[in-house]
Amino acid sequence: MATTAGRSSGTGPAISIENAVLDRASQLFESSLISVHGSLVGSLAALAHPRRRGEANYGEVFLRDNVPVMVHLLLQQRFPVVRHFLETCLLLQSEGRQTRGVFPTSFVEENGQLVADYGQRSIGSISSVDASLWWPVLCWLYVKRSRDVGFGISQGVQRGVQRLLDLVLKPGFQDAPVLFVPDCAFMIDRPMDVWGAPLEVQVLLFGCLKACCRLMELAQRQSQSRLLDQRVLSTRRWQHDLRRYLLKHYWVTTRTVQVLRRRPTEQYGAHQHENEFNVQPQVIPPWLQDWLADRGGYLIGNMRTGRPDFRFFSLGNALACLFGLLTPPQQRALFRLVLHNRAELMAQMPMRICHPPLTAEEWRHGTGSDPKNWPGSYHNGGHWPSLLWYLGWAVLLHEQRHPGADPALLSRMRTLLEEGFALQISQLPRQQWAEYFDGPTGRWVGQQSRTYQTWTVVGLLLQHHVLHCDPGAVLLFDLDAGIEGLR
Ligand code: GLC
Repeated sequence: MATTAGRSSGTGPAISIENAVLDRASQLFESSLISVHGSLVGSLAALAHPRRRGEANYGEVFLRDNVPVMVHLLLQQRFPVVRHFLETCLLLQSEGRQTRGVFPTSFVEENGQLVADYGQRSIGSISSVDASLWWPVLCWLYVKRSRDVGFGISQGVQRGVQRLLDLVLKPGFQDAPVLFVPDCAFMIDRPMDVWGAPLEVQVLLFGCLKACCRLMELAQRQSQSRLLDQRVLSTRRWQHDLRRYLLKHYWVTTRTVQVLRRRPTEQYGAHQHENEFNVQPQVIPPWLQDWLADRGGYLIGNMRTGRPDFRFFSLGNALACLFGLLTPPQQRALFRLVLHNRAELMAQMPMRICHPPLTAEEWRHGTGSDPKNWPGSYHNGGHWPSLLWYLGWAVLLHEQRHPGADPALLSRMRTLLEEGFALQISQLPRQQWAEYFDGPTGRWVGQQSRTYQTWTVVGLLLQHHVLHCDPGAVLLFDLDAGIEGLR
């Protein structure tokens, strides 16, 4: 079998504890892998608790939970498993009249049959839009790393890409390049007032369109097709418009907030562009002043007419760096913001899923009085160890792509990541690799947290790999590196 993430070299008790934890993580990871039709396909969301058998743990292969799993397998060069996962997802891509092209939220094999959930079993029967958007990204990462161009240009993959694009590149009722979704359509799959155009879905759409372009460019090299050429052009245009839209309406700094505060409201016709969403200055929350400080910046959580959502969502922001949606100076402004707000975002267990939590009336309205999403808990400001690697990889990818840019800032970010990693090394094994942590500092295991959660385990391995073994491995995520060199 291929090697695990590698071990930290050096001596001393800290290193040997770290190595023991990493060994345990690798073992847990191996036992999370399951088979479909006789070969390994991916990981269960959570392992059964070793001593409390029969507890409700997630015995299915969730597409989003398998993102870090697939990245880890790619680093280990276990290509057949990743390919089998991608093929299984393709096989399950919906053929339904209204859902044609959608990938499932999760799947599992039962009595030799593949059974998939397209959302019918989730709260509100909502489909996980993020799962569909991740598939082309993972597919492109696989082709790039394994150099399996044959798979990339295969009819199955190219057809899957076109079906997915059919869902996105189509006329709608609004001239905005975003994907409108209901509440609960991504990692946050309980009501959290994240309907409309939530950041995470839009950033994933951006990454998805980029990856689709890469895969179609491969096919273009093989055979000429005017239809395909047009598809590539319209996908690129959509991607470009989406980025411009997000940078215009979602990106905030202390300077942009000051402009926002002084913009005219109630405008119609020709001047409407000055305040397209008719945002009243009163909706700008006071906590933004300290949160942004002088030179911080981030993408807000959502934009809706008159009601921007200023909450900070960690995953959407980290992915915006990884996928190259934010410019390099914007990425550094985001890193400054994370450093400035580390007490909230990192605290005792990095990293918080969103900030600030909805409280009181907002909690009642936004979550429908959901006790699991109690303020500071679960999706509503809980701390998810599985999120740290996305930020870590974003920082290291920035360093790789822009060496020498603001070395002092990047070195502080590295220290922050090292401290976060050390916290996880000391806490995760004794907290049984919990899914999430609660409370204002994320010190306590989430009240309803599952244990032995796979993406908690793999997130630690991925973070270790790039912090202590091979920082250059982050280049895998560079979606801008084109198809040159691939044969
Ligand atoms: C929960 C999480 C979701 C995750 C799933 C499986 O439903 O909200 O993001 O994919 O568990 O771990």
